[in-house]
Amino acid sequence: MSTFRILLTPGDGIGPEVIEEAVKVLAAVQKRFGHEFQYQEETIGGAAIDRYGLALRPETVAAARQSHAVLFGAVGGPKWDDPRAAVRPEDAILGMRKQLGLFANLRPVRVHPAMIDQSTLKRETLEGTDMVVIRELTGGLYFGKPKRRWENAAGRQAVDTLRYSEREVERVMHVAFQLARGRRNRVTSVDKANVLRTGQMWREVATEIGAQYPDVELEHILVDACAMYLVRKPASFDVIVTENMFGDILTDEAAMLAGSMGMMPSASLGRRRKDGTGIGLYEPIHGSAPDIAGQRKANPLATILSAAMMLRLSLGLEAEAAAIEAAVDATILDGYRTPDIEGPGARLVDTAKMGALVTERVAG
Ligand code: IPM
Ligand code: MG
Repeated sequence: MSTFRILLTPGDGIGPEVIEEAVKVLAAVQKRFGHEFQYQEETIGGAAIDRYGLALRPETVAAARQSHAVLFGAVGGPKWDDPRAAVRPEDAILGMRKQLGLFANLRPVRVHPAMIDQSTLKRETLEGTDMVVIRELTGGLYFGKPKRRWENAAGRQAVDTLRYSEREVERVMHVAFQLARGRRNRVTSVDKANVLRTGQMWREVATEIGAQYPDVELEHILVDACAMYLVRKPASFDVIVTENMFGDILTDEAAMLAGSMGMMPSASLGRRRKDGTGIGLYEPIHGSAPDIAGQRKANPLATILSAAMMLRLSLGLEAEAAAIEAAVDATILDGYRTPDIEGPGARLVDTAKMGALVTERVAG
């Protein structure tokens, strides 16, 4: 029997509700495949601000380092929304990414055939859409210095800095090319090389790394064109790789191809061991949705699918990950829907019921 340590950070809003369902599904995996998952739970985000005065305690980061993986809910809410506050719930996710060195964020976008009419786009446009967006996660505008606000005679001033080193670009490119090799062998590198110096360097480095993967086709496109192509011909993409801020924006757009943010998992990865595994943080890409917190409406599938990615990418448990993904597919095919993905003829269920349906199907 293998034992794995998993840190749970449920966070705020619907975070705890969706994490609870993922843990239920993981319990079925433990039982069916004979693993032991040892959980530790840490308070983060707004809840941690209330309790400890900061969104991410050093103890939490230390606990993450001792774990095989972190399963992260969501952070934030109106209570902590003052943009001028010294501490913000978002510090929790940004701090985790930076301090654990999780530089590559994988966001798969697949349109489930049974949900294709859920999207605001036409069926013909969406058919065959299956891509992974890799967002660089620890550089760029989010972390570049200087980053500050001040005031002078001309009024309020503010600066953020977009900065990348070639090493930062190289390592995320390797993740993209390696991933493409297991897929359709196509990488689209997204930049703003017509305007930004960082974009020019990004493009150069992408080309250099691409030369090491002659079997993978590389194309470069500008970020504004990418935003357009995502809704015009989404099925043409295989692996997209881009810098932090562009990736943040493009992945919300790409998520809508699938009909709901409630279906979208993500993995944030750092350096890998020889066997390909390594610590990672797994989270749904939706936020804490304070407007529906506590109402049993949240869709737990993004978190459940994130748990599947965790099994595959940090624990090396491929068959177990595939079992969860198959169970989610089967649940969708059987017509079960939470309110966010409800459509004609759907069997409407709440958060806990959706979790239970997937759990049953994993248990077999
Ligand atoms: C995301 C979110 C975060 C980000 C926020 C919550 C800081 O939008 O994971 O995409 O901007 O990275
Ligand atoms: Mg975002």
